[in-house]
Amino acid sequence: MPVTTRSTDPSRLPRFPADFRWGASTAAYQIEGAADEDGKGPSIWDTFVRRPGAVRDGHTGDTACDHYHRFEEDVALMRRLGLDAYRFSLSWPRIVPTGAGKVEPRGLDFYDRLVDALLDAGIEPTPTLFHWDLPQALEDGGGWLDRDTAYRFGEYAAVAAERLGDRVKRWITLNEPFVHMSFGYGFGVHAPGRALLLDALPVAHHQLLGHGLATAAVRAAVPDAQVLIANNCTPVRLRSDARTDKDTAAASAYDILHNRLFNDPLLQGRYPDLSAYGMSDPSWGGVVRDGDLATIAAPLDGLGINYYNPTWVTAPADPAAGLPFDLAEPEEPYERTAFGWPVVPDGLTELLTGLEERYGAALPPVWITENGCSQPAGLDDPARIDYLAGHLGAIADAMDRGVDVRGYFTWSLLDNFEWAEGYHQRFGLVEVDFATGLRTPRASFEWYRDLIASQRS
Ligand code: BGC
Repeated sequence: MPVTTRSTDPSRLPRFPADFRWGASTAAYQIEGAADEDGKGPSIWDTFVRRPGAVRDGHTGDTACDHYHRFEEDVALMRRLGLDAYRFSLSWPRIVPTGAGKVEPRGLDFYDRLVDALLDAGIEPTPTLFHWDLPQALEDGGGWLDRDTAYRFGEYAAVAAERLGDRVKRWITLNEPFVHMSFGYGFGVHAPGRALLLDALPVAHHQLLGHGLATAAVRAAVPDAQVLIANNCTPVRLRSDARTDKDTAAASAYDILHNRLFNDPLLQGRYPDLSAYGMSDPSWGGVVRDGDLATIAAPLDGLGINYYNPTWVTAPADPAAGLPFDLAEPEEPYERTAFGWPVVPDGLTELLTGLEERYGAALPPVWITENGCSQPAGLDDPARIDYLAGHLGAIADAMDRGVDVRGYFTWSLLDNFEWAEGYHQRFGLVEVDFATGLRTPRASFEWYRDLIASQRS
C-alpha cells in the first residue's frame, strides 16, 4: 500500500513559505563517540549500555559515528543538502563532567568549533541542552527524581548559553521529557533503567522545572534568543471495534500522560487532571511547589514537536493492573517502517490541528523538531522518500488549516546509535558504516537536497 498518493517529485510538493526553515536533527550520545575523551564525564547512557541485555547485541555509543572527530565532514554534508538549520544536542557531561561545579573547557571548545563550522556553512546552529545523557554523578544522587537536578540543569544551561550565545540564537531545552520519564524511569528500557511505573511521575515535573530554569538562564545570557522545547506528541486513536465509554476514557487518560502532562503546564500554567492515575493532590504529595508552574510556563518562542506515529489504545483488560489504558494495534494495514512503526502521515495533521484547537492563542509557533523513519540498510530508500513527502504534505495541510509551522528537522542526518536498538535501526539520510565511519548519502539525501533547492527557486 503506498504511503501517500501525493507525488514525491520535489518540485510538485506543496510550496512552503519563503522563510520556512529546512533542517535535520541528531543527538550527542547517538553520534559523537569520544565517550571519555577530553575530560568528558560518564553519562547514564555510558553506564546503561554496559548492563547485560540492556542494548541489543551489547552495542554502545563509545564510538558511534565518531562525529566528535569527523564533524567537519558532517557539516560539509549538511552544506551539500542546503540545510538552513541543524539541530544537535550538547552533551551535559562533556561540558560539566559531574553535572555540577567544574566546567570542562575542552568540551565547550568542541561545540565552539562545531558552531563556527555551521555558521561558515550558512547553517543556523540549533542545540538541544538535554537529549537524555544525564551526567552519571547526578543520577547517583537521584537523577530527575531529585528536584536539585532541575537547578543543576539551569546552571549548566547558563554555562552553555554564555559561551555560545553570541552565535547561537535558537535554543531547545529538553528533548522528549515524556519518553525520558517513561522509558528511562517508568519502564527501565532506556537509561537510567529504572522501572518505577507511576512513581516516575516526579521526573516529569523536575524536567519541566529544569526547562523553566534553563529558559530563564538562556534568556539572561542571550536576550535575543528564541527558546523552544521538543516534545514527543502523538494523536491518540481508538479502533472501530473498541469505542465504548471505557475506551474513550482510556484514550483521554493516555492523552493526558503522553501529551497534556507536558503541554498543559508549558502553555497553560497548570497540570491536567491526573485522577485517572490516582493523583488528586495538586501538589503531587509536595513535588509541585509554589511558583514552579509560573517558572515552567514562561512564554515559549516555539513549541518543538517530534512526531513518529499515532498511538492506539483500549480500555485496560485488567483495570487492577495499574495503568488506565492498554496499548493496541491499529486495525488498518498501514505500511510499517523497519522498526515496525505504522506510517501515518495524516496523524501529523491531526496532531497539529488538535494542538491549535486545544491551546488556541496560547500555542506558539510550531517547529517539527523530529520526523523520519528507520528503513533497511542500503542506499536506495524509496520508502523513506515516501515517508518524508507524505509527512511534509501533512504539515502543509495543517498550515492550510491555520497552524503556524516555522520549520522541519528530519530525523536523522546520519544513521546512528538508536538507543536500546543499538545500530540495528537506520534513520539516516546518510548511511554510516560503523566499522570504518564511512558516510554515503542515500537517495533520500539527494531527494531532500532537491526539495530544499526547489522550495528556494
Ligand atoms: C528521539 C531520538 C530517536 C528517535 C527514533 C526520538 O524519540 O528523540 O533520539 O532516535 O526518536 O527512535
